[in-house]
Amino acid sequence: MFAITGATGAIGKRVAARLAAAGTAQRLVVRDPQRAPALSGVEVSEPADYGDRDAMTRAFDGVSTVFMVSAKESQNRVEEHRSVVDAAMQAGVSRIVYLSFQGAAEFCTFTFGRDHWHTEQYIRDSGLEFTFLRDSMYLGAMVSFVGDDGVIRGPAGSGQVAAVAHDDVADVAASLLVDGDASGRTYDITGPEAISMADVARIIGHATGREIAYHDESIEEAYASRAVYGATEFEVTGWVSSYQAIAAGELSKVSDAVERITGHPPMGLPEYVARHPASIARLSLDR
Ligand SMILES: NC(=O)c1ccc[n+]([C@@H]2O[C@H](COP(=O)([O-])OP(=O)(O)OC[C@H]3O[C@@H](n4cnc5c(N)ncnc54)[C@H](OP(=O)(O)O)[C@@H]3O)[C@@H](O)[C@H]2O)c1
Repeated sequence: MFAITGATGAIGKRVAARLAAAGTAQRLVVRDPQRAPALSGVEVSEPADYGDRDAMTRAFDGVSTVFMVSAKESQNRVEEHRSVVDAAMQAGVSRIVYLSFQGAAEFCTFTFGRDHWHTEQYIRDSGLEFTFLRDSMYLGAMVSFVGDDGVIRGPAGSGQVAAVAHDDVADVAASLLVDGDASGRTYDITGPEAISMADVARIIGHATGREIAYHDESIEEAYASRAVYGATEFEVTGWVSSYQAIAAGELSKVSDAVERITGHPPMGLPEYVARHPASIARLSLDR
C-alpha cells in the first residue's frame, strides 16, 4: 500500500493518477477529502494536516511507502515535515519518497530550498529507507514569472535554470515509487536544457506573438517591486532568492533522470507552452 500526500495538488494528483492506471493500491492523504481526485480503486484518508501527527499516523496505517510532497512554504514547514516523518515511523512505514528541490543545501541561496535540506537530513536520521527527488523549478512557474505587462522581473542575471514539467516529475515519481532499487538514492529531476530568463522571455514571446522582456533587477529593485503584494519578509525573501539562486548557477545542472527512469525525454519550455496553451492565455494579445 502506497500513501500519496499532497494528492489534491499538481504533483500529487498526477502521481496518484499514474498509480491508479497501473492498478497499484494507494491511499490519498489529504486535508479535505472532498477535493481528493476521483480515481478508481483508491482509498482516501480522513482529513490529515502535516502538522497533525496523530491524524497523519492514522492516515499511514498499513502503508509501506509514503510519497511525501513538501508542504506549502511557511516558517514552520520543516516542523510540519518532521511531523510527517514521525508519523510514518510510528505507523510502521518502511520507505519515504520525498519531493525535495534541486540544490537543497543548508545555506543554499534559495531560502525555501534550505527547508528541503533540513527535511532530507531528518529523513536520513530516521532510519527509514528513502529516495529524494530534487526537482527543478516547474515550467509552469517560469510562465507565471511573466507579469501581465509582459515583463519578467528578477535578479537572475544571465544565470540558467533547467525547469521541468509537472508531468515529467510525476512520471519519475511513479516509476521510482514502485522501484525498490531506488532506495537511498537522490535524483535531480530537470528539463532537457538550462535556459536563462532572457531565453524564457524569448520562448514565451514566440508562443504568444507578443513582445516579452526580461528586466534583470538589482536586489534592491526586486524587494521594492514586490512590496505591492503586502507579503511577509519571509515570503518575499523566498521569491527574490529564487532568482538569485538562478544567477548563482545553483539551478543550472541538467540531469538525465527523466529519460533514464521513464524512457522518454523531458519536455522543455517550447513544448510545455505548446501543450498547455491555457498557461499563456493571459499573456496573449487577442484575449
Ligand atoms: N519546483 C517548483 O517550482 C515549486 C514551486 C512551488 C512549490 N513547490 C513545492 O513543491 C510542492 C509540490 O508542488 P505542487 O505544484 O504539487 O504544489 P500544489 O499544487 O500547491 O500542491 C501542494 C499539495 O500539498 C498539500 N499541502 C501543502 N501543505 C500541506 C500541509 N501543511 N498539510 C497537508 N497537506 C499540505 C496541499 O494540500 P491542500 O490542497 O489542502 O492545500 C496540496 O495537495 C509544493 O507544496 C511546494 O512545497 C515547488
